[in-house]
Amino acid sequence: DWNAAHIVEELIAGVQAQVGDSGRVLLGISGGVDSSTLALLLARAVGDRLTAVFIDHGLLRLGEREQVEAALRPLGVNLVTVDARDEFLGALRGVSDPEQKRKVIGREFIRAFERETAKLGDFDFLAQGTLYPDVIESAGGHHGDKSGAANIKSHHNVGGLPEDLKFKLVEPFRTLFKDEVREIAQLLGLPDHIRMRHPFPGPGLAIRCLGEVTEEKLEILKRVDDIFISGLREFGLYDGCSQALAVLTPIQSVGVMGDERTYSYTTALRAVTTDDYMTAEWARLPYEFLATMSNRIVNQVHEINRVVYDITGKPPATIEWE
Ligand code: XMP
Repeated sequence: DWNAAHIVEELIAGVQAQVGDSGRVLLGISGGVDSSTLALLLARAVGDRLTAVFIDHGLLRLGEREQVEAALRPLGVNLVTVDARDEFLGALRGVSDPEQKRKVIGREFIRAFERETAKLGDFDFLAQGTLYPDVIESAGGHHGDKSGAANIKSHHNVGGLPEDLKFKLVEPFRTLFKDEVREIAQLLGLPDHIRMRHPFPGPGLAIRCLGEVTEEKLEILKRVDDIFISGLREFGLYDGCSQALAVLTPIQSVGVMGDERTYSYTTALRAVTTDDYMTAEWARLPYEFLATMSNRIVNQVHEINRVVYDITGKPPATIEWE
Protein backbone atom coordinates (compact mmCIF):
# COMPACT_ATOMS: atom_id res chain seq x y z
CA ASP A 1 0.00 0.00 0.00
CA TRP A 2 1.67 3.14 -1.26
CA ASN A 3 1.21 6.08 1.07
CA ALA A 4 2.80 9.35 -0.03
CA ALA A 5 2.94 10.94 3.42
CA HIS A 6 4.64 7.90 4.84
CA ILE A 7 7.11 7.73 1.95
CA VAL A 8 8.00 11.41 2.37
CA GLU A 9 8.84 10.86 6.04
CA GLU A 10 10.97 7.85 5.13
CA LEU A 11 12.79 9.68 2.36
CA ILE A 12 13.53 12.64 4.63
CA ALA A 13 14.86 10.35 7.35
CA GLY A 14 16.97 8.53 4.76
CA VAL A 15 18.52 11.77 3.50
CA GLN A 16 19.20 12.98 7.03
CA ALA A 17 20.90 9.70 7.90
CA GLN A 18 23.07 9.86 4.78
CA VAL A 19 23.99 13.53 4.94
CA GLY A 20 24.50 13.78 8.70
CA ASP A 21 24.45 16.93 10.80
CA SER A 22 26.87 19.04 8.84
CA GLY A 23 26.98 17.76 5.25
CA ARG A 24 26.32 20.28 2.48
CA VAL A 25 24.25 19.21 -0.51
CA LEU A 26 24.32 20.60 -4.03
CA LEU A 27 21.46 20.13 -6.47
CA GLY A 28 21.06 21.18 -10.10
CA ILE A 29 17.54 22.37 -10.89
CA SER A 30 16.13 21.97 -14.38
CA GLY A 31 12.68 23.38 -13.77
CA GLY A 32 11.06 19.99 -14.25
CA VAL A 33 9.04 18.07 -11.72
CA ASP A 34 11.79 15.70 -10.54
CA SER A 35 14.45 18.19 -9.58
CA SER A 36 11.89 20.67 -8.21
CA THR A 37 10.33 18.02 -5.99
CA LEU A 38 13.74 16.88 -4.90
CA ALA A 39 14.61 20.45 -3.93
CA LEU A 40 11.53 20.63 -1.71
CA LEU A 41 12.28 17.30 -0.09
CA LEU A 42 15.91 18.19 0.57
CA ALA A 43 14.98 21.58 1.98
CA ARG A 44 12.75 19.78 4.44
CA ALA A 45 15.54 17.32 5.27
CA VAL A 46 18.60 19.57 5.56
CA GLY A 47 17.32 23.16 5.30
CA ASP A 48 19.97 25.66 4.27
CA ARG A 49 22.62 23.01 3.90
CA LEU A 50 21.00 22.46 0.53
CA THR A 51 22.02 24.77 -2.29
CA ALA A 52 19.94 24.38 -5.44
CA VAL A 53 21.47 25.86 -8.59
CA PHE A 54 19.39 26.77 -11.60
CA ILE A 55 21.28 27.63 -14.77
CA ASP A 56 19.27 29.86 -17.08
CA HIS A 57 20.71 29.03 -20.50
CA GLY A 58 18.30 31.33 -22.29
CA LEU A 59 16.62 28.36 -23.98
CA LEU A 60 13.76 28.17 -21.49
CA ARG A 61 10.13 29.01 -21.99
CA LEU A 62 8.80 32.48 -21.36
CA GLY A 63 8.81 33.24 -17.63
CA GLU A 64 10.11 29.80 -16.67
CA ARG A 65 12.95 30.96 -14.47
CA GLU A 66 10.64 33.28 -12.54
CA GLN A 67 8.09 30.48 -12.11
CA VAL A 68 10.67 28.13 -10.64
CA GLU A 69 11.94 30.85 -8.30
CA ALA A 70 8.41 31.70 -7.20
CA ALA A 71 7.60 28.04 -6.57
CA LEU A 72 10.69 27.04 -4.63
CA ARG A 73 11.92 30.03 -2.64
CA PRO A 74 8.78 30.54 -0.56
CA LEU A 75 8.95 26.88 0.41
CA GLY A 76 12.39 27.32 1.90
CA VAL A 77 14.66 26.25 -0.92
CA ASN A 78 18.00 28.02 -0.92
CA LEU A 79 18.00 28.64 -4.67
CA VAL A 80 20.76 30.27 -6.67
CA THR A 81 19.88 31.23 -10.23
CA VAL A 82 22.60 31.87 -12.75
CA ASP A 83 22.12 33.97 -15.85
CA ALA A 84 24.26 32.19 -18.45
CA ARG A 85 22.24 33.26 -21.45
CA ASP A 86 25.00 35.14 -23.24
CA GLU A 87 27.48 32.31 -22.95
CA PHE A 88 25.10 29.72 -24.33
CA LEU A 89 23.99 31.92 -27.19
CA GLY A 90 27.59 32.79 -27.96
CA ALA A 91 28.60 29.14 -27.99
CA LEU A 92 25.67 28.27 -30.26
CA ARG A 93 26.53 30.90 -32.83
CA GLY A 94 27.04 29.31 -36.25
CA VAL A 95 25.89 25.87 -35.01
CA SER A 96 22.98 24.45 -36.97
CA ASP A 97 23.38 20.67 -36.72
CA PRO A 98 21.01 19.22 -34.09
CA GLU A 99 23.53 16.84 -32.52
CA GLN A 100 26.16 19.55 -32.47
CA LYS A 101 23.72 21.85 -30.66
CA ARG A 102 23.21 19.17 -28.01
CA LYS A 103 26.97 18.75 -27.60
CA VAL A 104 27.58 22.47 -27.26
CA ILE A 105 24.77 22.88 -24.76
CA GLY A 106 25.88 19.87 -22.71
CA ARG A 107 29.43 21.21 -22.58
CA GLU A 108 28.40 24.76 -21.70
CA PHE A 109 26.09 23.46 -19.02
CA ILE A 110 28.86 21.57 -17.25
CA ARG A 111 31.16 24.59 -17.54
CA ALA A 112 28.61 26.98 -16.08
CA PHE A 113 27.63 24.58 -13.31
CA GLU A 114 31.23 23.94 -12.26
CA ARG A 115 32.16 27.60 -12.36
CA GLU A 116 29.15 28.74 -10.36
CA THR A 117 29.26 26.00 -7.76
CA ALA A 118 32.97 26.64 -7.17
CA LYS A 119 31.94 30.08 -5.88
CA LEU A 120 29.57 28.56 -3.36
CA GLY A 121 32.10 26.76 -1.18
CA ASP A 122 32.61 23.07 -0.57
CA PHE A 123 29.91 20.49 -0.93
CA ASP A 124 29.94 16.93 0.32
CA PHE A 125 26.99 15.61 -1.64
CA LEU A 126 25.46 15.99 -5.04
CA ALA A 127 21.74 15.26 -5.22
CA GLN A 128 20.11 13.88 -8.34
CA GLY A 129 16.50 13.22 -9.21
CA THR A 130 17.23 9.77 -10.64
CA LEU A 131 14.04 7.71 -10.92
CA TYR A 132 13.61 3.95 -10.92
CA PRO A 133 13.25 3.70 -14.72
CA ASP A 134 16.59 5.54 -15.10
CA VAL A 135 18.23 3.05 -12.76
CA ILE A 136 16.91 0.13 -14.80
CA GLU A 137 18.03 1.70 -18.05
CA SER A 138 21.54 2.52 -17.01
CA ALA A 139 21.93 -1.03 -15.72
CA GLY A 140 20.97 -2.33 -19.16
CA GLY A 141 22.17 0.25 -21.64
CA HIS A 142 24.61 3.11 -21.55
CA HIS A 143 24.10 6.15 -19.45
CA GLY A 144 21.97 8.93 -20.88
CA ASP A 145 20.57 6.71 -23.58
CA LYS A 146 16.87 7.07 -22.93
CA SER A 147 15.52 4.87 -25.63
CA GLY A 148 17.98 2.03 -25.98
CA ALA A 149 18.60 0.64 -29.43
CA ALA A 150 15.97 2.92 -30.93
CA ASN A 151 17.78 6.01 -29.74
CA ILE A 152 18.68 8.30 -32.57
CA LYS A 153 19.27 11.51 -30.68
CA SER A 154 21.79 12.01 -27.95
CA HIS A 155 20.08 13.16 -24.79
CA HIS A 156 22.20 15.56 -22.86
CA ASN A 157 19.99 16.34 -19.97
CA VAL A 158 20.42 19.57 -18.15
CA GLY A 159 21.56 18.10 -14.89
CA GLY A 160 23.69 15.57 -16.72
CA LEU A 161 26.92 16.20 -14.90
CA PRO A 162 30.46 14.99 -15.39
CA GLU A 163 31.14 11.68 -13.77
CA ASP A 164 34.38 12.67 -12.11
CA LEU A 165 32.84 15.10 -9.63
CA LYS A 166 34.13 14.36 -6.17
CA PHE A 167 30.76 14.19 -4.49
CA LYS A 168 28.82 11.44 -2.88
CA LEU A 169 25.48 11.03 -4.60
CA VAL A 170 22.14 11.56 -2.89
CA GLU A 171 19.36 9.97 -4.95
CA PRO A 172 16.27 9.56 -2.80
CA PHE A 173 13.97 8.90 -5.80
CA ARG A 174 15.87 5.85 -7.06
CA THR A 175 13.00 3.53 -6.21
CA LEU A 176 10.20 5.79 -7.45
CA PHE A 177 8.19 6.17 -10.62
CA LYS A 178 7.20 9.52 -12.08
CA ASP A 179 3.61 9.29 -10.84
CA GLU A 180 4.86 8.71 -7.32
CA VAL A 181 7.12 11.74 -7.54
CA ARG A 182 4.09 13.77 -8.63
CA GLU A 183 2.17 12.62 -5.56
CA ILE A 184 5.04 13.52 -3.31
CA ALA A 185 5.28 16.87 -5.05
CA GLN A 186 1.68 17.60 -4.22
CA LEU A 187 2.25 16.81 -0.59
CA LEU A 188 5.29 19.06 -0.49
CA GLY A 189 3.35 21.95 -2.01
CA LEU A 190 4.80 22.16 -5.51
CA PRO A 191 2.37 24.24 -7.60
CA ASP A 192 0.39 22.22 -10.15
CA HIS A 193 1.74 24.05 -13.16
CA ILE A 194 5.17 22.59 -12.39
CA ARG A 195 3.97 19.34 -10.88
CA MET A 196 1.93 18.37 -13.95
CA ARG A 197 4.24 19.96 -16.51
CA HIS A 198 4.99 18.14 -19.76
CA PRO A 199 8.57 16.98 -20.13
CA PHE A 200 10.88 19.62 -21.55
CA PRO A 201 14.19 18.65 -23.16
CA GLY A 202 17.47 19.72 -21.60
CA PRO A 203 18.56 21.62 -24.74
CA GLY A 204 15.26 23.44 -24.50
CA LEU A 205 14.10 25.71 -27.28
CA ALA A 206 17.41 25.32 -29.12
CA ILE A 207 16.18 22.10 -30.74
CA ARG A 208 12.86 23.72 -31.64
CA CYS A 209 14.51 26.65 -33.35
CA LEU A 210 15.50 24.82 -36.51
CA GLY A 211 18.96 25.55 -37.83
CA GLU A 212 21.09 28.23 -36.23
CA VAL A 213 19.78 29.61 -32.95
CA THR A 214 19.71 33.37 -32.67
CA GLU A 215 18.33 35.63 -29.98
CA GLU A 216 15.79 37.02 -32.43
CA LYS A 217 14.48 33.58 -33.37
CA LEU A 218 14.34 32.51 -29.73
CA GLU A 219 12.24 35.54 -28.86
CA ILE A 220 9.77 34.71 -31.63
CA LEU A 221 9.59 31.06 -30.59
CA LYS A 222 9.07 31.91 -26.92
CA ARG A 223 6.05 34.03 -27.75
CA VAL A 224 4.52 31.40 -30.05
CA ASP A 225 5.16 28.64 -27.52
CA ASP A 226 3.60 30.68 -24.75
CA ILE A 227 0.43 31.31 -26.77
CA PHE A 228 0.12 27.60 -27.61
CA ILE A 229 0.83 26.22 -24.12
CA SER A 230 -1.33 28.83 -22.37
CA GLY A 231 -4.06 28.09 -24.90
CA LEU A 232 -3.93 24.37 -24.17
CA ARG A 233 -4.32 25.14 -20.47
CA GLU A 234 -7.10 27.63 -21.07
CA PHE A 235 -9.08 25.14 -23.19
CA GLY A 236 -8.55 22.30 -20.72
CA LEU A 237 -6.49 20.32 -23.23
CA TYR A 238 -3.07 20.42 -21.59
CA ASP A 239 -3.38 17.39 -19.33
CA GLY A 240 -4.75 15.28 -22.17
CA CYS A 241 -1.51 15.73 -24.14
CA SER A 242 1.74 14.09 -23.10
CA GLN A 243 3.82 16.81 -24.68
CA ALA A 244 3.15 19.89 -26.76
CA LEU A 245 5.53 22.23 -28.46
CA ALA A 246 6.01 24.89 -31.09
CA VAL A 247 8.75 24.79 -33.70
CA LEU A 248 10.15 27.81 -35.50
CA THR A 249 11.01 26.72 -39.03
CA PRO A 250 13.43 28.59 -41.28
CA ILE A 251 10.76 28.63 -43.99
CA GLN A 252 9.59 32.06 -45.05
CA SER A 253 6.56 32.33 -47.22
CA VAL A 254 4.30 34.94 -48.73
CA GLY A 255 1.19 36.10 -46.95
CA VAL A 256 -1.09 39.09 -46.75
CA MET A 257 -1.91 41.26 -43.75
CA GLY A 258 -4.36 44.15 -44.30
CA ASP A 259 -3.32 45.26 -47.76
CA GLU A 260 0.33 44.53 -47.17
CA ARG A 261 2.19 41.60 -48.61
CA THR A 262 4.19 39.77 -45.96
CA TYR A 263 7.14 37.44 -46.21
CA SER A 264 7.50 35.81 -42.82
CA TYR A 265 8.20 32.61 -40.91
CA THR A 266 6.16 29.45 -40.59
CA THR A 267 5.64 27.91 -37.18
CA ALA A 268 4.64 24.30 -36.62
CA LEU A 269 2.61 23.26 -33.61
CA ARG A 270 2.95 19.72 -32.33
CA ALA A 271 1.09 17.86 -29.59
CA VAL A 272 1.38 14.15 -28.89
CA THR A 273 -0.02 11.47 -26.65
CA THR A 274 2.23 8.65 -25.51
CA ASP A 275 2.93 6.38 -22.57
CA ASP A 276 6.65 6.00 -22.96
CA TYR A 277 7.84 8.65 -25.46
CA MET A 278 9.32 5.85 -27.60
CA THR A 279 6.24 5.85 -29.81
CA ALA A 280 3.63 8.56 -29.93
CA GLU A 281 0.45 9.58 -31.68
CA TRP A 282 -0.31 13.12 -32.76
CA ALA A 283 -3.01 14.56 -30.56
CA ARG A 284 -6.40 15.02 -32.20
CA LEU A 285 -6.85 18.58 -30.99
CA PRO A 286 -10.21 20.18 -31.83
CA TYR A 287 -10.26 22.25 -35.04
CA GLU A 288 -11.79 25.20 -33.19
CA PHE A 289 -8.89 25.22 -30.78
CA LEU A 290 -6.36 25.06 -33.63
CA ALA A 291 -8.18 27.89 -35.40
CA THR A 292 -7.99 30.02 -32.27
CA MET A 293 -4.29 29.29 -31.86
CA SER A 294 -3.58 30.14 -35.49
CA ASN A 295 -5.40 33.47 -35.20
CA ARG A 296 -3.74 34.41 -31.95
CA ILE A 297 -0.28 33.53 -33.18
CA VAL A 298 -0.41 35.49 -36.45
CA ASN A 299 -2.11 38.43 -34.76
CA GLN A 300 0.28 38.65 -31.85
CA VAL A 301 3.55 37.53 -33.40
CA HIS A 302 4.14 39.58 -36.51
CA GLU A 303 7.17 37.59 -37.56
CA ILE A 304 4.83 34.63 -38.22
CA ASN A 305 2.37 34.51 -41.13
CA ARG A 306 1.69 30.79 -41.38
CA VAL A 307 0.81 28.16 -38.78
CA VAL A 308 0.80 24.42 -39.48
CA TYR A 309 -0.10 21.49 -37.24
CA ASP A 310 2.11 18.40 -37.29
CA ILE A 311 0.04 15.27 -38.01
CA THR A 312 2.88 12.75 -37.95
CA GLY A 313 3.22 9.93 -35.46
CA LYS A 314 6.42 8.57 -33.93
CA PRO A 315 7.62 6.62 -35.77
CA PRO A 316 8.23 7.70 -38.46
CA ALA A 317 8.78 11.21 -37.07
CA THR A 318 10.26 11.95 -33.66
CA ILE A 319 8.52 14.13 -31.11
CA GLU A 320 11.03 16.94 -31.43
CA TRP A 321 11.90 18.22 -34.88
CA GLU A 322 15.63 18.10 -34.25
P1 XMP B 1 12.17 12.39 -29.62
O1 XMP B 1 12.26 13.71 -30.31
O2 XMP B 1 13.45 11.61 -29.65
O3 XMP B 1 11.91 12.74 -28.07
O4 XMP B 1 10.98 11.59 -30.05
C1 XMP B 1 11.53 11.81 -27.09
C2 XMP B 1 11.50 12.56 -25.77
O5 XMP B 1 12.81 12.94 -25.40
C3 XMP B 1 12.90 14.35 -25.31
N1 XMP B 1 14.19 14.75 -25.85
C4 XMP B 1 15.22 15.16 -25.10
N2 XMP B 1 15.34 15.31 -23.77
N3 XMP B 1 17.56 16.04 -24.07
C5 XMP B 1 16.51 15.76 -23.26
O6 XMP B 1 16.64 15.94 -22.05
C6 XMP B 1 17.51 15.90 -25.42
O7 XMP B 1 18.48 16.16 -26.12
C7 XMP B 1 16.28 15.44 -25.95
N4 XMP B 1 15.86 15.17 -27.23
C8 XMP B 1 14.56 14.77 -27.13
C9 XMP B 1 11.73 14.89 -26.08
O8 XMP B 1 11.35 16.19 -25.62
C10 XMP B 1 10.68 13.84 -25.82
O9 XMP B 1 10.08 14.03 -24.54
